[in-house]
Amino acid sequence: MLRLLRVLSPLGDLPRFRGNPNGFLLDAARKSGDLVNFRLAAQNVFLVSHPDAIRDVLVTHQANFTKSRMLERAKVLLGEGLLTSEGELHTRQRRLVQPAFHRDRLARYAVDMVACSANARAAWCDGMEMDVSKEMARLTLAIVGRTLFSTDISSEADEIGAAMTEIFSLFDTLLMPFSDWIQKLRVPSVRRFEEARGKLDRIVYGLIAERRQTGEDAGDLLSMLLLAQDEDKTRMTDKQVRDEALTLLIAGHETTANALTWTWYLLSQNPEAEARVHKELETVLGGGLPTFDDMERLPYTTGVISEALRLYPPAWAIGRRVKQDYTIGDRTIPAKSILLMSPWVVHRDPRWWPEPERFRPERWLPGETEGRPKFAYFPFGGGARTCIGERFAWAEGVLVLATLAQRWKMGLVPGHPVETRAVITLRTRYGMKMKVAARPPQNRLN
Ligand code: HEM
Repeated sequence: MLRLLRVLSPLGDLPRFRGNPNGFLLDAARKSGDLVNFRLAAQNVFLVSHPDAIRDVLVTHQANFTKSRMLERAKVLLGEGLLTSEGELHTRQRRLVQPAFHRDRLARYAVDMVACSANARAAWCDGMEMDVSKEMARLTLAIVGRTLFSTDISSEADEIGAAMTEIFSLFDTLLMPFSDWIQKLRVPSVRRFEEARGKLDRIVYGLIAERRQTGEDAGDLLSMLLLAQDEDKTRMTDKQVRDEALTLLIAGHETTANALTWTWYLLSQNPEAEARVHKELETVLGGGLPTFDDMERLPYTTGVISEALRLYPPAWAIGRRVKQDYTIGDRTIPAKSILLMSPWVVHRDPRWWPEPERFRPERWLPGETEGRPKFAYFPFGGGARTCIGERFAWAEGVLVLATLAQRWKMGLVPGHPVETRAVITLRTRYGMKMKVAARPPQNRLN
């Protein structure tokens, strides 16, 4: 009877999915295996959880897929930026933006990443309590502002943060069936969303106007976007520059802030790993600030970030829409279905990760990684749509953690509830209240 009701329900599994999407997906894969079919309102959805099948969708047969509904909806905020555009426009924009992430550029960004982190750590004091998720969002926003736009947007950080929260809350609604109607009705949440989007627009168009006026080539991403020319000598419109800039601002700070927040939480729960990080930082850095070149000499600290991205992948699900009927195993997936691939699910699969719930940065040390299929771990996706900021994110994760952990430890405030909230990224439901403690002076030199 219950089953019949579910089949007849116009929302399908949507109510259960919305309450706890990552939990729902994990349950589904555990109960029903590597390919699970369910319905979210009118959408026919397939959860794909075998690494080889994921590789086929993201890489081998990528031409047969477009972005899923979630990212199509994101156009109301991001327009036609890299994350949301498709086809030729995407290929062209990706070519124009890519040089901003070359190795020599990253080495320069690394200096700013460390400088921003050193500012943050200098403002902390022993015993101070803070919401680490907010503090990390402020820090990563400052870093994106400085590296990609050569500007200090930290004064606007709270405003941007509040706008993002508003936008994320409405996003849940935008994913609902009938969301076009909800938008047209301009209910209060839609009005708040539009106000928040207006705020972000003012900030980004302000940056564009300032730069156009001075005509200066600051050598950063914004100048590259403004000066980039196609073969036919056309330049991007302000709207296209705005879409790309806002995409990078949002994609570039929210994800890394989440990853760092979960990293602090995991370290606070695993004192042995925390002690090993401290030891590595002392041995390798000897009290000096970290640099881009130090990163390869910090394998354990890098392992901590890898393991945090395994257990709490900021992009907890990646979706694709099927263009033409597609076959996985002996099953035909009809055109227009949605395929979901979830790092949250696959990163917890005991076939690839013994004791999957255990935080063990050692899994990432040389010699430990052999035999794992490539797509058993895909926090940055794969194929033509793979994260353009992946190397930026690795540098940022490791250098921010290294700089802050040289001086400080974090302890979870007793009783503070810790839960995930899977919206677009894997946020914390109640923030992350932690207490800062100075590391004993004999363990640090500056
Ligand atoms: C831990 C940090 C990050 C994670 C986990 C992450 C994850 C991802 C994932 C999974 C995708 C692919 C989505 C899909 O295939 O549908 C993606 C795309 C993208 N990411 Fe990231 N990202 C991170 C940091 C960054 C940073 C720092 C930037 C920029 C500074 C960035 C910019 C982008 C952009 C522009 C795309 C779209 C690429 C395209 O479609 O061509 N991301 N990211």
